[in-house]
Amino acid sequence: MADQTESKAAITDDDIIRLLQIGYVLEGIVEARSDRHTTNEVFDRTITRRLLADARDESRQHRRQIGALLESLGAECSSSQQIEKRIKSHYCPAEIDDRCDILQDQFYSELSAYRFYDAVLNEIQANATALSIDIDNVVTVLEEIRAEELEGVFEVMNAANSADGACSDIEIPKEKLV
Ligand SMILES: [Fe+2]
Repeated sequence: MADQTESKAAITDDDIIRLLQIGYVLEGIVEARSDRHTTNEVFDRTITRRLLADARDESRQHRRQIGALLESLGAECSSSQQIEKRIKSHYCPAEIDDRCDILQDQFYSELSAYRFYDAVLNEIQANATALSIDIDNVVTVLEEIRAEELEGVFEVMNAANSADGACSDIEIPKEKLV
């Protein structure tokens, strides 16, 4: 059995690059799902539609920020066309025709992204002892993105109780988020 007091291995430059590449694809998935919902013809309610459009634009911006980090580290990321093609065929939901179900889907997109960046930042904080890259810049960008994901979680929760109509069925996790 592994010694529980044994410290974890230091995170490497390659680990950081792989995590950023995962974040890049994750943002592409969230962007594509929000976009699918935004263009849903069943929508005629302005508050929810605006929220989804803003979420899509924010994910695109996050993807660009992570792409810029990867470029500064000399690493590659898939082109947006490659990502879009794969995502549309594998990760986009079929059109959902219920506003509350759409908000639930958006809620979990925001929450998943928040949890991902939170885990990456905790990992960096605990195990970044042997890096040669400029980790301060990576941390600054990821902290900013994490804060925006958390804002997104609360925005969806508010929209679920907005003037467009309350969604009492949205299951909000009981865990503490901050
Ligand atoms: Fe994001």
